[in-house]
Amino acid sequence: MKILAIESSCDETAAAVIEDGRKILSSVVDTQIATHALYGGVVPEIASRRHMEAVVRVTEQALKDAEMDKHDVDAVAATCAPGLIGALLVGANFGKSLAFAMNKPFIPVHHIRGHIAATYLAYPELKPPFLTLIASGGHSEIVMVKSYTEFEILGGTRDDAAGEAFDKVARVLGVGYPGGPKIDKLAQDGDPKRYKLPDSHIKDAPLDFSFSGLKTAVINLAHNAEQKGQPLVPADLAASFCCHVSEILWQKTALAAERCGCDKIVLAGGVSANSWLRQRARQGCAEKGWQLYMPPLSLTGDNAAMIGAQAYYEYLAGHTADESLNGLPTMEITEQFGA
Ligand code: KG4
Ligand code: ZN
Repeated sequence: MKILAIESSCDETAAAVIEDGRKILSSVVDTQIATHALYGGVVPEIASRRHMEAVVRVTEQALKDAEMDKHDVDAVAATCAPGLIGALLVGANFGKSLAFAMNKPFIPVHHIRGHIAATYLAYPELKPPFLTLIASGGHSEIVMVKSYTEFEILGGTRDDAAGEAFDKVARVLGVGYPGGPKIDKLAQDGDPKRYKLPDSHIKDAPLDFSFSGLKTAVINLAHNAEQKGQPLVPADLAASFCCHVSEILWQKTALAAERCGCDKIVLAGGVSANSWLRQRARQGCAEKGWQLYMPPLSLTGDNAAMIGAQAYYEYLAGHTADESLNGLPTMEITEQFGA
């Protein structure tokens, strides 16, 4: 089954053709990063307009790269939640209209389910159940993937998502947007032990995250250093931050895995590109004898290939939508569209 998938939930307009949930026939990503970098973060209205301009071109390119005509696809899928609503609606409505015009099924996809499915594209043998750490710009969650379309949230964030924390620290250090990749790169030459950052324990909720205190601690470090006339060493702060956040993310994931007796771990979302987190998870899984699955760097950020992968399993579970389907800015991974 060949699914044409569209993604437009944030600042990437993407289209892909995926066969049977596992094989990428084409994947095109048109990023708006350069535009939003001028403002230091994503400007929602500009994002929506840029999706409008790009969505047809990107879709045509994906079909061309797959050497297909649009009438050859078996179904159309699009990210319909969660995300910036104006941005989401562009891809969701375009996908729905295209399916309607061609009389093909339309499959709405949850963006975070898509991030998890990115891993299916790289590991043909990977099947649920497994435990996943989702760390992206909008989400930090530990989720048990019980089947391709059934999920249980074991832990979540009380405030900022991990990616947001990276982006905010990048702003303090003045390294620009998006912060995650820049902090990761800067950290390569830094001393991870130079700056002590606070723990983020939440009483009685050891699997939940809180990153806002960490962000405040970094801001305070910067102010204190300025007042004392002793400038911060950006590489050391970046390394301390990467090391600390990776440790928090890994420790909670490992605790969840131990509690549920799960030995298959999947990392997902934009922050799973972080070299410190990847290394920490590799080391942790090696020590415990657990299997680790991480999407290739080309699939950690937003793309439509992952949406097409998840769409296949949603289709098999009967999760298609009719013409009344709407997009949603927020939606738990456990919820179904139209339910
Ligand atoms: O999953 P994603 O592309 O978009 C959302 O669904 O939110 O995640 C984007 C987030 C941004 O906050 C970005 O700074 C972060 O992922 N990110 C990273 C790295 N690459 C991207 N964070 C840390 N290290 C990286 N190498
Ligand atoms: Zn994403």
